[in-house]
Amino acid sequence: MSGGRCTCAKSHQGVTRAVAEPRNVVQCVYSSPDNEELAERYDQWAESYEDDLDRDFGWSGPLLAVEVFTKYVAKNARILDAGAGTGLVGTLLADQGYTDLVAMDLSAGMLEEARKKSAYREFHQMVMGERLDFPTSSFDAVVSVGVLTVGHAPPSSLDELVRVTKPGGHIVYTLRPDLYEDGGFKEKHAELGANGMWELVVVSEPTQILPKGEPDVLHQVWVFAVTS
Ligand SMILES: C[S@@+](CC[C@H](N)C(=O)[O-])C[C@H]1O[C@@H](n2cnc3c(N)ncnc32)[C@H](O)[C@@H]1O
Repeated sequence: MSGGRCTCAKSHQGVTRAVAEPRNVVQCVYSSPDNEELAERYDQWAESYEDDLDRDFGWSGPLLAVEVFTKYVAKNARILDAGAGTGLVGTLLADQGYTDLVAMDLSAGMLEEARKKSAYREFHQMVMGERLDFPTSSFDAVVSVGVLTVGHAPPSSLDELVRVTKPGGHIVYTLRPDLYEDGGFKEKHAELGANGMWELVVVSEPTQILPKGEPDVLHQVWVFAVTS
């Protein structure tokens, strides 16, 4: 998303209070100065996240990614939803017959919302960009929607997503074309390819996934197969 002036306010207890207007809440999370603040902002937003994004942005990232994901990943796969948020992706995957889903997110508040859904078997609070507390080759597939983006998880997160995915498994994630070019993702994709860690399977055409709120901001779904 496009960043911009943050309109989050600090309450007198020092807790971040996101203002009521959803566009500002979105700008607010994308301009968080650090992960601690980002987690607080998502904690504050968690309860109204789904309604706000649906009503004001037409958020269709989860649907787009799941449509691609189901073409490559078997129904019995053990799947990590990295940056699971309130569980929109897991809910769609469960509807498609996937049963072995693990939710991971920076924000305890978002994970609390995800817990209310019956889609996931496990919930883990972790930070992408740091070492993930999962053994190597834990998952058959990883999905990550709206997380490797402005002010959120950095390109280096992909190293750990590769490590926790079994050889032959898939990583499916959404990314803005401008961040691919200018945000270090192009270089990280190439590095992982050159080091024999993964191979590109497919990348979708740039698509609007926030058609109401940010029609000019496009995203692509990238699918990689982990090779070692
Ligand atoms: C835009 S929301 C997307 C949530 C969900 N995937 C969806 O499609 O609705 C971004 C999520 O990523 C989480 N997040 C941001 N940076 C993260 C990081 N470095 N590590 C783990 N989760 C992160 C946020 O807490 C938030 O739940």
